[in-house]
Amino acid sequence: MPSIKSFTSCCIVAATVCMLTACFPPRDHADLPTVSVSMSNWAQAQWHDATPVQLQHGRDTMLSKCTECHSMPSPSHESVGDWPGVMKSMAHKAKVDDDDQTAMLRYILSARQTATGKGG
Ligand code: HEC
Repeated sequence: MPSIKSFTSCCIVAATVCMLTACFPPRDHADLPTVSVSMSNWAQAQWHDATPVQLQHGRDTMLSKCTECHSMPSPSHESVGDWPGVMKSMAHKAKVDDDDQTAMLRYILSARQTATGKGG
């Protein structure tokens, strides 16, 4: 009965295609808040050359680079004192340049500060 055999292999092909594409869960990008006015104000008070565009670039870079090996860490994952060192080593792992690293660090610290409600 050749038709049964081809039906079986058709199922195997369909299952394989499903496994390779649509059946993988989406990556978690939900944790990072969008850049707000209070975040930008906070950042500009810390670093005179910080801009909303730079913070946005930091967020975009994190969304594209920081989920290759693990899920997206939330801004509160590290303390204010620990983020610079962690970001330096992770920026190295993610193979981004110093400007991207600075943008990501400023973004994550601004997001962390304003998320606690203490940043103003
Ligand atoms: C090439 C893989 C890779 C990429 C890309 C990567 N990470 Fe990681 N990350 C790791 C590994 C492995 C660990 C756990 C051990 C360590 O600290 O090296 C980790 C741990 C962490 C931790 C927890 C550190 C701790 O010890 O508390 C944070 C936070 C983190 N990563 C943030 C980031 C951010 C932000 C980015 C994007 C700039 C990033 N990671 C990109 C591999 C990666």
